[in-house]
Parts: sequence; C-alpha cells; structure tokens
Amino acid sequence: MNNMDKEQAHLRIEKLTKELDHHNYQYYVLSRPSISDYDFDMLLNELIELEKQYPEFLSPQSPTQRVGGDITKVFRTVQHKYPMLSLANTYSEEEILNFDKRTRKGLVHDPIYVCELKYDGVAIGLTYKNGVLEKAVTRGDGIQGDDITANVKTIKSIPLKLKGNYPEEFEIRGEIFYPHQGFYKLNEEREVKGDNPFANPRNAASGTLKMQDSTEVAKRPLDCYLYILYGENLPHASHYKNLQEAKNWGFKISEDIKLCNSLKDILNFIRYWDKERANLPYDIDGIVIKLDSLQDQQSLGFTAKSPRWAISYKFKAEQVSTELLSISYQVGRTGAITPVANLKPVLLAGTTVKRASLHNSDIIKNLDVRIGDQVFVEKGGEIIPKIVGVDLPKRSLFSQEIKYISNCPECGTSLIRKEGEANHYCPNTYACPPQIKGSIEHFISRKAMNIDSLGEGKIDILYEKGLIKNFADLYKLRFEDIFGLEKIIPESEGKKERKVGFKEKSTQNIIKGIEASKQVGFEKVLYAIGIRYVGETVAKKLATYFKNIDALMNATFEELVEVDEIGDKIAQAVIDYFNYNANKSLIEELRIYGLQLELKEDPNLISSNILEGKLFVVSGVFANHSRDEIKSLVEQYGGKNTGSISSKTSYVLAGENMGPSKLAKAEKLGIPIISESEFEKLINLTT
Ligand code: IVH
Repeated sequence: MNNMDKEQAHLRIEKLTKELDHHNYQYYVLSRPSISDYDFDMLLNELIELEKQYPEFLSPQSPTQRVGGDITKVFRTVQHKYPMLSLANTYSEEEILNFDKRTRKGLVHDPIYVCELKYDGVAIGLTYKNGVLEKAVTRGDGIQGDDITANVKTIKSIPLKLKGNYPEEFEIRGEIFYPHQGFYKLNEEREVKGDNPFANPRNAASGTLKMQDSTEVAKRPLDCYLYILYGENLPHASHYKNLQEAKNWGFKISEDIKLCNSLKDILNFIRYWDKERANLPYDIDGIVIKLDSLQDQQSLGFTAKSPRWAISYKFKAEQVSTELLSISYQVGRTGAITPVANLKPVLLAGTTVKRASLHNSDIIKNLDVRIGDQVFVEKGGEIIPKIVGVDLPKRSLFSQEIKYISNCPECGTSLIRKEGEANHYCPNTYACPPQIKGSIEHFISRKAMNIDSLGEGKIDILYEKGLIKNFADLYKLRFEDIFGLEKIIPESEGKKERKVGFKEKSTQNIIKGIEASKQVGFEKVLYAIGIRYVGETVAKKLATYFKNIDALMNATFEELVEVDEIGDKIAQAVIDYFNYNANKSLIEELRIYGLQLELKEDPNLISSNILEGKLFVVSGVFANHSRDEIKSLVEQYGGKNTGSISSKTSYVLAGENMGPSKLAKAEKLGIPIISESEFEKLINLTT
C-alpha cells in the first residue's frame, strides 16, 4: 500500500468511501446488512490507513469520521432559519374530530392527512448544503438551539453526504432516539460503574447528545427518524411525497406513515398503534396527524405556538389495577427514606410489576392509599411504575390510614424532615448501615478513588462480614481475608438472581486497585470522603485553595466563604464534617495508609514570589486558561485575588466579555489593565 501513487490512493479512497457509505446505509437505514461486520471493519481500516497517509484526501464527510473525536466545550447557539414549533396535543378521539372539523372549515376542498408515529426522543434540525450535512441544531426555545453537529455526525443512520437529486439547500427535521435494546444495556453498564441509570430512553438520548466528547457519543447506538422538510426548492407540494423523495437521498424515513382521507382512517391508525407500540423497538408517545398539501398548510397557518395544520394525539399511559399488599421503606445512600409499594404481581406493558414507588409521605397522604386497597398502576415514561389512584368503591370497610414510619427501618434512629423537603431522612449518617455502605461505594467510585474492581455487591459482602466498617478499613484488607467470599443476590427489578464473589483474579485486582488509589490526587480524596455538598468541582476548588487537609480542617467559616463559589451551605457542611470526631479519626487513618492529603505541586511549574504584594482582579473569559487556573497562578506566584476593583488593585486581568462597568472603573482609577498574554509574560510563562 505504501507504494500506491497519489492518484491511485485518491481513487481508492473515493471507492472505499462509496462502498462504506452504501454498507452503512444498508445496515443503519434499511436494517438490511449487505456485508459482514468483519469485512466492513477491514474496508474501514484500509480507508483509515489511506487517509492517514494522504490527509489531503480526508473529507469531513468520510465514513471514518463517524467515530467522533471533536470535543465541544460549549455548544454554539444558532438561530433557526424556520422556527421550530411544537404541536398542539390532544388526548381523545373527540378532539381529533374537532381538529378535522376545523380543518375542513378552513379549506375549500376535502383534506388529505398524513398520519405518522410520534417518536419520543430529542428533536433535531439538519441543514444540508450541496448534499453535505452542514449543521445539526436542537430545538432549544424554538427560535434558537444548540449546534450539536459534532455529536450528530456520529449517528450512523444520518447521512453526511446525500445521494440522488436533492435540493441545493434545505433543512430536514426529525427525532433522535435511543432504541430499547441499547438503552437497557447502557443502564446495566452504568449501574456496574456506579453511575445513575437513565429514567427512560428519551433522557438517555438527550443526556448522550449533551456530552462534550463526541467519541463517547459515537459509542452509543443513537438512531434518527426524519419527519419533515423545509426549504425553498422542495421537490413536491405534498409532505408525503417529499418524505418519500428524502428516502432516496439516504434519509431514514419510517415505513409506518399513512395517507388518510377520512376521520375513520385516522382513528384506525391511532387505535392500531396504541396496541402495536408495545412491539416497537423504540418509544413512541403518540401519533402526529399532518395536512399533506403544503399549500393547505400555508393557508391554515399557525397559532402563536403551533401549526393549525397538524396535531398530535398522545397515548394514555397503560393502566392496570392490583392489590396493595404492604409498604416497605428503603434507606438511600444519603439517608433519604423512600416508601415502596409491594403489589400483588400484575402484567403491565409487557412486564410483571410487583413494586411501585410511592416517593414520599405526601404522596401517600394525597393518594390516601391503604393496605388491601385495589390501586391503579401506570407505566409512564419512567421505568418504575407508579400508583396513580385508588379504586375507592372496592375499599374494605376496615381499612386504615397509613401511619408513616417515624424511625429508620435500618438503625432505629428518629427520622427528621427538613422544612421544604419532601423526604424524611435518617440523620444517623455515620452509623446507619445503608449510609455507611453508600459512603464506601461513593469513596471507591470512578470519579473518586476509582477502585472500580470493587464493583456491584462486593461492598455489601465486605460490610456484612464485618471486614469493613468505613472506607478507611479498605486499606486493611488482605488477599487472604477476602478471596473466596461470595453472596447470592436475589432477583429484583427485572434482573435475574446472580452470584457475586471474590474470585482469584478479581481479588488480585481489588488489592491492586486499593494500593493504586494511594496515588490518587488530593482533590479526588477530598471528593471521596463524602462531605455533604462537596461534589467534584467544589472539592477541586477547596483543594486548590487550601492545598492540604490540615489547612482545610482548621479553616473557619469566614475563611471558607472567602473561596470562590463557596457559599454558606457548603462552608457549614465542611465545618460540621470535621467537627465530628469519627471523621477526624478516619482522616488520620487515611494519612497513616499514605493517601494524598495535600496537593502535589506541578513539577513543570517553577513558581516564585514575583507577584508578592500585588492585588489582582481577574475578570472575563480567557483563551489559554480557565479563570480559576489564572487565579491559582496569581497565588502560586505570590499575588492575591480580590473580587472588586479599588485604588489598591495592582492589575486588572481582563479576558473576553469583561463587564464594561469594571473596565470603566479600572480606567478611572488608572489601574493597569493587562491581557492574558501580558500576564503570562509577567510570570515568565512564555518567553
Ligand atoms: S412534526 C411544526 N412529526 O413532537 C411541527 N413531530 O410536539 C413539526 N415529534 O418537537 C413537528 N414525532 O420533537 C413531527 N412524526 C413527527 C414527530 C414529531 C415526534 C416531536 C417533535 C416535535 C414534537 C411536537
């Protein structure tokens, strides 16, 4: 291949591109694979190699670009050329009848409707110029949305380059969704990693599209159906025909679209899909009915919010009734109590339901559910079904109101309920078993100490066997203490019964992981120890500011609130944490085990006291550093940061978008205003 001449390489690249585009289309748009995965990968690898050797022939539309790579820190806001409106919702057949009546009144001839599925995902507008995907923009507020092109380019069913006879410029809109199979797999993986599962496929789609790293998006199996075109030169005056034409250009257009010319046809379509949707591999939440003729659409026009020429019919959530057997109370990682209804098993939307969330005591009170009641259970957009009402006529005369628990079911401590909060809490944070286990799970999680070999269920075993009572105890564990331990986790929430245990290899990995965590940076340790409200970002801020655990432990409330973005609530939580003696001993233990309790100086940075006695006001957005980085550089070189400009200020370090009033004040007081690069020169960061 090395000897291939340039012209040959160009031709081969073009040929491979065409072939791969074709196979992608067959696989992702038509669901009719035309080549084995292995052969596909061979062709793709050949193209990747050739593009590496001849980067001048690498096109942004190449199938190799589907793997992502672009990182978007902040999504650009863009104006929609055509406002992205939503549809008026209806919930009954009668409302559809009224829609049909209104439509007929507004037209001089009989209407032709197009019935489509209403996909439950994230709306997207794709603009194509000369057959090339130019941008992909979310709905946003309908007037402007986020440019998420880098992420959308990784969705294989969205063509980067069109085929056939397409208009020079147009926009096509559709819905990006997360197919069921991929969704369940994603959630399982998230649970293993300790990340919160997504409540439903729509959230998974929207969460994925918001990710900054498109390489991660590329790993998720998002899909997209397109359902409407906008442009000055569309091929037909019929919505339906335009969609069929768009199919020829390479778009994924649903086969489940129907032209209807009577109300009866529409209602049949609705009734059919209300049942059949249970068999679709993705979520739909209703049916969309549109007028087919673009001229008719124009003559009916829009209301302020939505078109008069279309309407959506939303399906009712599936409901069944069953008996409420009992209520159990779960204690979460943070001590929050969640009441859970135990139900007589019943079939709902394809799965057997045994439990439903009751959320909190207010919900129980408002529903007035009682043990023995026949309750109505619904599956909405969420995975966990909910109780929506009680079949009162069936209630037993002897039923009694539910008395909410007043003590923690795990440790017996009296529960508290803070003002304005819906949940009761167990305040016994440091001695209540699920809370201790929760704090250990948090300690080992990926973004904290990253001891991921100690995954699902293993902490439970170690805790129940009395081998660990807190996270510091992890550092006492020896191979021979844990090798061979195991536990059977009974089936729950649709997951089969499974065995969790410490096999030889995994035990070795755990011991290695625990040892390696001693090198994890101070800011992560600070996050890992689980001070209330101290998330990743706050931990980083505190670590940068105080530099070591002792300074933080000794900090007063006033000193804490001095730190950028640390408010009263966080400051108090830090004070409370270290006031508790058991926490102080935990920290001492961590110190003995050799964890990083101070910030390591970056050896690449030679600091000095060059800025000693200088007072800085840092404002605006900078090109090379974040504002926090600049502020820590100021301190590293002996300077001080303040928030407001006064006659004592030595320099105003101005980035982009600095407020005009600050600039004016600095100018008035004659304080030097310096740029990021001037600051870098000042501390000799550049030569
Ligand atoms: S047409 C001006 N067709 O539903 C109307 N929308 O409430 C343009 N949706 O924002 C939308 N499936 O996200 C249309 N077949 C379909 C749809 C659909 C789902 C979503 C879309 C839109 C919302 C309207």
